[in-house]
Formats: sequence, C-alpha cells, structure tokens
Amino acid sequence: MSQNDIVLRVDNVEAGYTPGVPILRGANIEVRSGEIVTVLGPNGAGKSTLIKAIAGLVPIFGGKVSLLDKDITGRPPHTLVREGLAYVPQVNNVFHRLTVEENLEMGAFTRKSGIARRLEETYALFPDLARLRKHPAGKLSGGQRQMVAFGRALMVEPRLLMLDEPSAGLSPKLVGMVFDNVKQVRDTGVTILMVEQNAKAGLLISDRGYVLAEGKEQLEDRADALLKNPEVGELYLGSKGGLL
Ligand SMILES: Nc1ncnc2c1ncn2[C@@H]1O[C@H](COP(=O)(O)OP(=O)(O)OP(=O)(O)O)[C@@H](O)[C@H]1O
Ligand SMILES: [Mg+2]
Repeated sequence: MSQNDIVLRVDNVEAGYTPGVPILRGANIEVRSGEIVTVLGPNGAGKSTLIKAIAGLVPIFGGKVSLLDKDITGRPPHTLVREGLAYVPQVNNVFHRLTVEENLEMGAFTRKSGIARRLEETYALFPDLARLRKHPAGKLSGGQRQMVAFGRALMVEPRLLMLDEPSAGLSPKLVGMVFDNVKQVRDTGVTILMVEQNAKAGLLISDRGYVLAEGKEQLEDRADALLKNPEVGELYLGSKGGLL
C-alpha cells in the first residue's frame, strides 16, 4: 500500500442522537495511510460525535463511512475491531481497578492468539507500562493512564487509531509526553485520527487538520498551513492571530 492510500473516508455524513436532529450535517473527512490527522473545533462542534459515528456508537442518518475501501456505515462497534479500527474515548478509557497488564489483556479480548507477543510489543513501545504492569490503572498519573488507554487500543493491531482529546486535563509537560506517544504509535505504522482542543500542540505533530464547526468541516489544510492561518485562531478557536 502506498503512502497516499486512503484509510478512512467520511463522505457527507449526517449523524446524531435523536432522529431528525442531526449534529453532524454533511461532514467530509479523509485520512491517508501513515498520516496523523487532527480535527479541531469549538466545544459542542460535534468532534466527539464524529468519532463516535465512525466507531458505530452514534446513529448515522445519511452519507457513507469507508474504512480501507469497505463500507462500514452504521456497523456495530464490536464488528469494527476486526476491520482494523480502534478507538480511545474522551473519558473513562481505562478500568481503574484492574492492573495495567489486565487492562492491556482486556484490549485483546477479540484476539484468538498472539496476545503474549502483542503484550511484549506494547511494552517495548511504552517501557513505562512494563514497569507499571502490576499497578492498578486508577493509581497512575493522567499521562500514564492515557498511555494505558493507547496501549489497550493497540493490542488489536489496528490500522486506524482514533483518539478523542488525548491531552484533555493534562499539565503542559504531560501534554508533550502524550503527543510524543501519539507520534511513536504512528511511527509503528498505525494511521491516526484525533480530535483535540489543544490546537497548537495537536497540529505540531499532525500532517493535516480539519476545523469542524456546526457539524461540518469549515476548513481543511496541511497542519503547518493551519498553524499559520489567522482565520483558524480567530473564527473557530477564540484566539487572535495564527496559532504560532
Ligand atoms: N449523548 C448525547 N445525547 C444527545 N446530545 C448529545 C449527546 N452527546 C453530545 N450531544 C450534543 O451534540 C453536540 C455535539 O457534541 P460533541 O460532544 O460531539 O461536541 P465536541 O465537539 O466533542 O465538544 P467538546 O469539545 O466539548 O468535547 C452538542 O450540542 C451536544 O450537546
Ligand atoms: Mg468532545
């Protein structure tokens, strides 16, 4: 597969929680193999709804979602894992009372084999998790918990990993650590679609980005261009001038 192959295509998707009340109103997003793509936008723009609609957790009223050229529109979430999709939710993304290792094993529940090998690969990627393997996830720092959540999603060897606000609630130092982790995951060959409020830090590690507002993408560009675009800060994210 070449670099430009499309992993995910969201085509004119309308979706929402109540029939007749669309939150997404014809959204279009494309993610190519090996990319990190970030979706930005104000609170309530529909960012989490977009991710959940792709993951089969919010009803889709119209349009099409394709993963690796396969139509997955409205497919139930548990069937999407074997198509190569993994999703880390915005909140409650680890089991607090289980240890790090138990959390990772839970992530592999759909696997029939290769769990021990995949555990070792995950520990090789995140050595901190190996060190903390016997610790309850609830006792870890926010950054470490986010690492557990990534690791858990990676246990199924996804093609596309979707992250909903991975840096939410973290200190600036931990934000840097989490985004370094995101890059590391991408460098193992996993394509990434993430949603972020932290526009600057998110775009700095991204290839491309979208600004979502009122249920539709308002802008799409290369990440470096979005960082310099004054419209992005002013119109959509409430800050004057560009983001740099
Ligand atoms: N479970 C739900 N039931 C009904 N409406 C919902 C539900 N979750 C979200 N909404 C509504 O959908 C709209 C978009 O919410 P969404 O959570 O997708 O926004 P967001 O861009 O992720 O915002 P945030 O930055 O606050 O996470 C909002 O108007 C919200 O009130
Ligand atoms: Mg959200």
